[in-house]
This record gives sequence, structure tokens and C-alpha cells, in this order.
Amino acid sequence: MSTSNGTHHPKHLAAELAQRASNRAQAKPGRKVRITIKRCDGPGKPSRWETFEVPVERGANVISCLQAIAANPVTVDGQRTTPPVWDSGCLEEVCGACTMVINGKVRQSCSCLIDEYAPGEGDTITLEPMQKFPVVRDLWVDRSRLFHNLKRVKSWVPIDGTYNLGAGPKETPENQEQRYVMSTCMSCGCCLDACPQFTLVEQPADWDTAFVGAHAINQARLFNSHETGKQLAPERLEALMSPGGVTDCGNAQNCVKVCPKNIPLTESIAAMGRSVWMHAITRWFRK
Ligand code: SF4
Ligand code: SF4
Ligand code: FES
Repeated sequence: MSTSNGTHHPKHLAAELAQRASNRAQAKPGRKVRITIKRCDGPGKPSRWETFEVPVERGANVISCLQAIAANPVTVDGQRTTPPVWDSGCLEEVCGACTMVINGKVRQSCSCLIDEYAPGEGDTITLEPMQKFPVVRDLWVDRSRLFHNLKRVKSWVPIDGTYNLGAGPKETPENQEQRYVMSTCMSCGCCLDACPQFTLVEQPADWDTAFVGAHAINQARLFNSHETGKQLAPERLEALMSPGGVTDCGNAQNCVKVCPKNIPLTESIAAMGRSVWMHAITRWFRK
């Protein structure tokens, strides 16, 4: 099954997508569904569950339900509460900001259709914040560490911008095609939330030695295979050789199963593992 980025859905997704399509076909517009939310008033505060009932029409998604709840924050027990808080931006699965755990699986809430997840009258959807990032409030988490880790691997093409560089170097269509899917990463954090090696680290002082994560390893591969970006390849490989680098990956492969862009993360991890070994051997011979 092809996706918008031209890749093929892995087998494990095909059954889930078929189930969702079947749910969508059965769902009746105008029914009421229940949304159960893990609430938390702020960092370090205890969490609690609250359930709301929301009428849904065709095309309703988790964000539209959250908006309806925020407009009238009364639980199914008739208790008035505070409007739930969440993060979002693009509303079209491009920015990654709305990522949360929905019915136990991490994904974007803007593209999560209620018809696919709660097709029956009274069906429940549970919403929780991601677990590997500090909660700011309710479903909103602080993903700063994710972006910090992109800096660790110098996830950019070095250009100084002070003079005209002229046309960029030529690149083969094969290389472009391979890099394209890697470039679709939207820094959502799904691969990190699902990874057993990526644990919650609250203190920024500890981030540089904790596991860097599949997203950053993939971005290192993306920029190492760019004709200009490869100027920084040795520095990226040094970063991936350091504590928290590529060898911390336990190969659980959870990351690749949850990536909404179907990026071949385990392939990227294996490729960077090989590059790191080559770099280490070359460095040893140069001593
Ligand atoms: S393969 Fe590595 S990065 Fe991916 S989930 Fe497993 S341990 Fe984490
Ligand atoms: S690699 Fe996939 S799951 Fe990970 S941050 Fe990028 S888009 Fe999200
Ligand atoms: S709001 Fe941007 S991915 Fe959902």
C-alpha cells in the first residue's frame, strides 16, 4: 500500500489500516463518543482521569473533540472542570506538535479520525501525554530534548551565508530518492516515546550522555549523504560514537513501527552503526 511520501506500508500496518477503514465505513454520524483524558495541572503535579461525552460528525478528529470539550468542560459526571490543554500547529500531520498517546499508541491527534477509532455509539478514546518528555500541562509536553539531540548530531547543511555559493553540487536521482523519505521527519517524537532505550530525562545537564534517539540518527544519515552536508560527517560520527550514541540502540525496532512517515529508521540505525565503525577504525589507523 503506497503512502503520500511514495513509500510502502510495512506489513504490520496493513491489518491496522484495513480495520480502520472498516470502522470508518460503519461509523454513524451524530453519535456520541467518550473521550477519557489523563489530566495534570503542571510539572510535578499529580495526574487524574476525566471523561467527557462529545457528539461527532463525519471528519471529526481528536483535536476537534478537544476543542468541543474546551468550549464546555463538563465531565460525564456533570462536574465543571478546566479546559484541557494540548499542543498543535499545522493540523495536517506536518509539524508533529500534536503528538500524544491515543488508545495506548503514540501518534498525531490532528490526523486521528474518530470514525476510525470509536465507530460505535458510546465508544471511548483515551488520550495521554507522551511519556518520555516532561508534561507541561495535560496533553502538552516539552519536546526541547528532541531538538537538542538534533543539535548534538549537527542536523544541518553548513553554509555561512556571507557569499554566493553558486549552484549546489550535483546529486544522483537515486540518492535524492533515498534521502527524500528520510527528510520527511517532522520531529514528532513518536519514535522516541516508543523506544525502550529513550527514557524520560528531566535535567538538560544529563541530555548529552543519554540516548540520542532514532530521529537524530536518521537525520545524521540524511545530512551525511548530502553532497554539502557531508562536510560535517566526521563530527556527526564522533557524536554518534559518544555515550548515548548509536550503540545504545537495543534494536527493539519499536521506532520504525510507530513512525508516521514510514521512515526506514532501523535501516538508518544500521547504516550509521556501520559508518561509526568505519570511522573508528580509520581514526585508529591514523593515530
Ligand atoms: S531500534 Fe533502537 S532506536 Fe528503535 S526503538 Fe529499538 S532501541 Fe529504540
Ligand atoms: S523519525 Fe518518524 S517518528 Fe521519529 S520524529 Fe521523525 S517523523 Fe516522528
Ligand atoms: S498539528 Fe501538526 S502534526 Fe498535528
